[in-house]
Amino acid sequence: MKKAIVYYSYSGHTKRIVDMIKEKIDADVFEIKPKEPYSTDYDTVVDLGQEEVNNNVLREIEEVNINLDNYDTVILATPVWWYTFAPVVHTFLEKYDLKDKTVMPIITNGGWLGHTVEDIKKYCPNVRNELILKFDGNNLETSSSVIDKFIEEIDN
Ligand SMILES: Cc1cc2nc3c(=O)[nH]c(=O)nc-3n(C[C@H](O)[C@H](O)[C@H](O)COP(=O)(O)O)c2cc1C
Repeated sequence: MKKAIVYYSYSGHTKRIVDMIKEKIDADVFEIKPKEPYSTDYDTVVDLGQEEVNNNVLREIEEVNINLDNYDTVILATPVWWYTFAPVVHTFLEKYDLKDKTVMPIITNGGWLGHTVEDIKKYCPNVRNELILKFDGNNLETSSSVIDKFIEEIDN
């Protein structure tokens, strides 16, 4: 069965990884987009993101045009925002039921992963092989061999 990749990316890191992976596997890619785009000013978004995460804000998203019946595995990619998934990913998980899916998370972060994996597992009991990638600015610090290993495991 074909895989689905569902992702959110604010500053492009997560998208970069998704683009790499989609070249190597047979997958349909779906982007989660906030209804109202975030500011382009990074520091503004860091502050607003903190407010949203602390208040469990389910920021409105555009409809994601995915028919989940078509997939048994979903690769879910998110940046870490204030020690958890980004608010729009939180909204996605509230609206789209991944309980019966095998979920392979991709989590990009700056070194403070927090409770992101645990929070994903609350919505997705069948998590396996999470790919955790650390960026320093725009540089990927995690070895690319970790990504290769994750890709190898997608079909197993
Ligand atoms: C609002 C906001 C909050 C963030 N909070 C964290 C955090 O708690 N821990 C961390 O390691 N990185 C944090 N970061 C850094 C991002 O997780 C990291 O740069 C990620 O790779 C960005 O992915 P993207 O470019 O796909 O948006 C935060 C970034 C933003 C914008």
